Amino acid sequence: MLPDLPPLLAIESSCDDTAAAVWADGRLAASVVASQRVHEGWGGVVPELASRAHQRLIVPTVQTALDEAGLAMGDLGAIAVTYGPGLAGSLLVGLSAAKGLALGLGVPLIGVNHLEGHVYSVFVEEPHPAFPFLCLTVSGGHTLLTLVREGFVHEELGRTRDDAAGEAYDKVARLLGLGYPGGPPVDKRAADGDASFLSLASPRITGQKARSLADFSFSGIKTAVRYALDDVPEPERDVWLETHRGDVCASFQRAVVDALVSALSDAVRQTGVRDVAIVGGVSANRGLRARAAETAEAEGWRLHVPALSYSVDNAAMIAVTAAFKWAAGETSPLSLGAEPSLAL
Ligand code: KG4
Ligand code: ZN
Repeated sequence: MLPDLPPLLAIESSCDDTAAAVWADGRLAASVVASQRVHEGWGGVVPELASRAHQRLIVPTVQTALDEAGLAMGDLGAIAVTYGPGLAGSLLVGLSAAKGLALGLGVPLIGVNHLEGHVYSVFVEEPHPAFPFLCLTVSGGHTLLTLVREGFVHEELGRTRDDAAGEAYDKVARLLGLGYPGGPPVDKRAADGDASFLSLASPRITGQKARSLADFSFSGIKTAVRYALDDVPEPERDVWLETHRGDVCASFQRAVVDALVSALSDAVRQTGVRDVAIVGGVSANRGLRARAAETAEAEGWRLHVPALSYSVDNAAMIAVTAAFKWAAGETSPLSLGAEPSLAL
């Protein structure tokens, strides 16, 4: 689908991962992610610490990616970079590095929207979806269902009204004392918990009140988990948590997964589109992957979920998106600025 292009380097620094990847000969030649450790103990990403860590990590990360690909700077034909959405200071580090390289090497700069990168993460490896496909983007900042058409056209079919699904995982993990980011530990503990322990209202709004076929609200479910904890008298809470942490995780995860997968089922039914992608950090969730795979099998959809390393933030997805853009003749001026609130 993609023509042969000269090697392309991609840089991603929108949040707390400093990442670089090389796309060459129509495939991924290298992908390196340096996850920042400086935020541990702060319960979330500290923007100022993130940009300083990007500054420290960007050059070695780019060099490691080139080494892994067996290429030198001079072999590169274009430089791609995430220009939004994300933390302004973090985006600026990647953008400055990319512009410097593009200018120094005399090659084009290709700005990539981080969200479009997540959507195109299903093209990093085969089999690729056919256009148009349904795409559920579930990350720390977004929960969005789109119909993706060729030529970078994204038709929105629904989104969250408040918190993103990943944000709900992070907040629930915090309530349960499971650290940040919260998705992986909640997912792990949900595996051997009792999902019927708490009955939580669905984070999907359906029926008369629904604004779209994928209308979600994740702030209520986090509050419901907090009320469940508050109901336990303070002196008993630690012991209660030791006993029921897995059960709370399983109950929360079941409600989230049910909501997301039921919206996808309805979208397949209403649009007749059978290629379905689930992307973004929360697509790494084992419960979501398993349920989506079962439903796809039962309802005849072709499910596309990126490998775990391309679900969470990475530069491989930025590289493959840039390859599509470059093939379509889309490059960016060196005046490209950071756009922290860029939409899809
Ligand atoms: O896409 P991503 O790496 O960064 C953003 O663009 O936001 O997504 C990060 C989010 C975090 O909220 C994290 O808790 C969540 O993805 N996440 C998961 C899992 N792994 C990461 N959520 C649920 N289950 C997981 N296994
Ligand atoms: Zn992301």
